[in-house]
Amino acid sequence: MEFTVQLQTYRQRVEQALDHYLPATGTPPPRLHAAMRYSLEAGGKRLRPVLLLASADLFNAPSSAAEAAAVAIECVHTYSLIHDDLPCMDNDDLRRGRPTAHKQFDEATALLAGDALLTHAFWLLSRYSSQPTIVAGLLAELGHAAGSQQLIGGQMEDLLAEKKSGVTADELRSIHLKKTAAMISAALAMGGIVAQARPADVETLRLAGQHLGLAFQIVDDILDATADTATLGKTAGKDAKADKTTYVKLYGLDASRKLAREESDAALAALARLPGDTTFLTTLVRDMAARTN
Ligand code: IPE
Ligand code: IPE
Ligand code: MG
Ligand code: MG
Ligand code: MG
Repeated sequence: MEFTVQLQTYRQRVEQALDHYLPATGTPPPRLHAAMRYSLEAGGKRLRPVLLLASADLFNAPSSAAEAAAVAIECVHTYSLIHDDLPCMDNDDLRRGRPTAHKQFDEATALLAGDALLTHAFWLLSRYSSQPTIVAGLLAELGHAAGSQQLIGGQMEDLLAEKKSGVTADELRSIHLKKTAAMISAALAMGGIVAQARPADVETLRLAGQHLGLAFQIVDDILDATADTATLGKTAGKDAKADKTTYVKLYGLDASRKLAREESDAALAALARLPGDTTFLTTLVRDMAARTN
């Protein structure tokens, strides 16, 4: 199947699974569930759940097996965006082409919708399978990636590095590894766990995800500085305004583009070590490096 058709098919599976595995609209309290669905249904690239499904397919997991796990990781990602946009964090008004959750509802509702999405993800995983080893593996992978030493730790360090000079290249790389690459790495690894892939292959998936995640956040920094708000669906130019420590600030645009290419190539090299047909995943890695939104 052609890449774009395959990507579209994966995204449709994600949309259907999201609708299926989220509490229905109107579930009490309706305002909370409306806010959860508002941010999730706004779309987005669905990179993490697509990676998870494609990774599971690589190891021939039964076709519907990975969908609840894909929803779980998209719930955690979306919660992280809702909180990232709050006035006390990046203070953004636009996300996925719509007003941010705290603008559309209010800050307390946005906070609680984020809390609920995070919790829902782990509840979903806990009920995932009758095989305790798969459930335990998924819970451990996502819990680590979303926790204080990865995603949240990276978000803390990202804020602490605002308006700061002298942040080193290693420190910036570590922030990006934590706040962004950890979840992308977990997405690929969780696909392997669902399919009961060999531990060595799961480790290779994690490594590919770290490099892809770094490339992804470097491109996010580049797009913040070069793309427009309408294309991004989120406010352009906000990193410079907040004086964030980004790849663009530290290296400039050209060197950032080169570093993104290097990380993307490293992700491809890792994927090449996996069994099965990795054509879709390698094309997705290239597509993400060349993306414009
Ligand atoms: C935004 O993630 C936050 C970053 C880690 C850069 P995405 O760019 O994947 O956002 P959506 O899910 O497509 O909206
Ligand atoms: C990544 O960083 C955010 C998360 C890990 C949630 P950014 O703050 O750069 O993401 P955007 O640009 O707001 O999407
Ligand atoms: Mg941020
Ligand atoms: Mg932000
Ligand atoms: Mg950004």
